Order: sequence, then C-alpha cells, then structure tokens
Amino acid sequence: MNPATADNRFRLIEGEQLQSESFAEAVEAGLARDPKRLDCRFFYDETGSLLFEQICELPEYYLTRSEREILARRSGEIARRFPRDTVLVELGSGSSVKTDLLISVWIAEHGSLRYEPIDISEEILRESSLQLLERHRRLTVHAIAGHFEDGLRRIEAAESGAKLVLWLGSTIGNLTRPRAVAFLRKVRESLSERDGLLVGIDLRKDVAILESAYNDAAGVTADFNLNLLDRINAELGGHFNRAKFRHEAKFNPETGSIQMFLVSEEAQEVTIDETGSTFSFGAGERIHTENSHKYSIDEIDELLREARFELAERWFDSNGLFSLNLARPLP
Ligand code: TRP
Repeated sequence: MNPATADNRFRLIEGEQLQSESFAEAVEAGLARDPKRLDCRFFYDETGSLLFEQICELPEYYLTRSEREILARRSGEIARRFPRDTVLVELGSGSSVKTDLLISVWIAEHGSLRYEPIDISEEILRESSLQLLERHRRLTVHAIAGHFEDGLRRIEAAESGAKLVLWLGSTIGNLTRPRAVAFLRKVRESLSERDGLLVGIDLRKDVAILESAYNDAAGVTADFNLNLLDRINAELGGHFNRAKFRHEAKFNPETGSIQMFLVSEEAQEVTIDETGSTFSFGAGERIHTENSHKYSIDEIDELLREARFELAERWFDSNGLFSLNLARPLP
C-alpha cells in the first residue's frame, strides 16, 4: 500500500493488559490446578489465529458461514438504524472478513466510517486493517492490540458520535454464563442510549451437529488445540510431545457447552524449563482448554435482560443454526 494514502487513516495502539500479562504464570497456575486448565485466549498466537481462520472455512464449522449469510443479507438494515457518525467497535475482530460485509454497505449508505477493531493478535490486526484500508478509501481504522478490557476502556474514552459494538462469531460462548452477563454489563456501562450492540450467538441444537463442528474430519481443530502445547514448548521451553496428547470435544448437557480438552494418552511427566516445574499426567487425564456455550432463544433474552439490554432485532441464517442479535442499552 502507498503509505501516503493510508498513513493518516490508520493507527495501532497497544493495550496495557497485553503487555503486563505473563504467559508463563498463567500456564504454571493452570497446570497446577485440579482439573488442569489452560486459558483459551492463549490459542491466538499467530499460528493459532491462522488455524482459526481455517476452522472458519471447514464444512463442519457452520458458525462462520451462517453468520456471514446473515450479515450479507442484513447489513443495509443494520447500517440504516445508526447515524452516519457512528463508530464501529469490534471485539475480537480477527481477519475482519465478515465485518467487511457491513463496512462496505455502511460506507455505501453513509459515505464514510471509523472502525475500531480490537484483537489479541497484533499481526492479524495489522494485516486485516491494511487490507480494509486498501479496499475502502473512505475508511479510518484505529486498531487496538489487546484484551477486551482494553477495548472497553477505549469504548468509554471515545469522543462524541454514536457507537455500535460488534461481538461476532459467538465468542460470547467462550465465557461461562455468569461471566457473559458480567461482561455485557460492562459493555452496557460504557454505552449511552443511542448506541448499539450487535452480538452473534450460536444456538442450542442437535448434539451430533455441535460435536462435529468441533471435531472436524481434517483435524484442523485438533491442530488448533494442540498448538497450545507447541506454544508452551516454543515460548517457555516446554517438553510436551504432542503425539502423546489428543484433542477431545464433547457437549456437556449440564453446562450447555461444547468442552474442549487435551487428553494425555499415557502416564507422563512434562517439564517446563522457564518455570522450572514438572507436571504429572495420568493416562487419560485431561487439560480443559475451552468452553463454547450454546444458547436457546429464551437464554439469549435472559442474558440481554440481565445485562440491561433490550433486543431491537434478531436475525437467523436460512438453516436456523445461528443468531445475530441487535440490542440497545436499557436506561
Ligand atoms: N468462538 C468460537 C466458538 O466457540 C471459538 C472456537 C471455534 C474454538 N472452534 C474452536 C475455540 C476450537 C477453540 C477450539 O466456536
């Protein structure tokens, strides 16, 4: 890209939380727990983010396709509900491919747009922002590399103009239900009444469909999960042998979530040089790496109500697998 055309339309800020966080401490604490845990936000290093892009295109992974279909069909309606000076803030923007549908329609409708994507992977953020800027001459991007909390602080600090907060991909499902309510409440507090929230939420459905979305035949989700071990090896001097662990994803009807694990195939001990600790695994012992909660319509309504939002509109894909919810803050 010619810097003269894009420089003044692009800014990248690094969130504070990202700098202060220690991967080593989090791994150490998580593996010392019983049952063992690793925090899902560590999935998204550069390799992990690229693998996740591949997951989104898998035949079994209906979520992205469904949400894309809704956005392709409804972006005009969404854009017209907001004034032209509205800032589009996106939590966990990733490649921004789906958002591009809304951005294009928005600019056609309103003439220009300011977009503030927040993502944990600075590389992905930089790359996707520059691509968007190349495609749209009337777009300004203020990107934030960091956690959602950094993003919320930005939302609050934003100057005049309405805001539309996007939270796509059913990332909300990766939080427990109480945490989802607590987080949405914080989003609510950072908004005023003319603002909006557009949140993509995956629906409860047949267990076979759910489980195959997280157990794809090509093994990309397994790779994505096992990449956590590679990351510990590369960044912390870990001695995990990924051949001795396998990916598992099961629906838990009690929590209403797909739960993801790395299962130790045999009894083994693994040392991590940087922290100097050794962890023992029994045969079949699991590290819990991720939850993906699925919501019924009633549960979505309850979630929004508890977080002090009011549903303005809800859209589904043609197969009724996924929901996109536009909500307004309650006074
Ligand atoms: N938000 C996505 C989801 O819950 C994240 C995701 C998809 C994911 N596939 C995954 C996370 C596999 C970990 C492993 O569907």
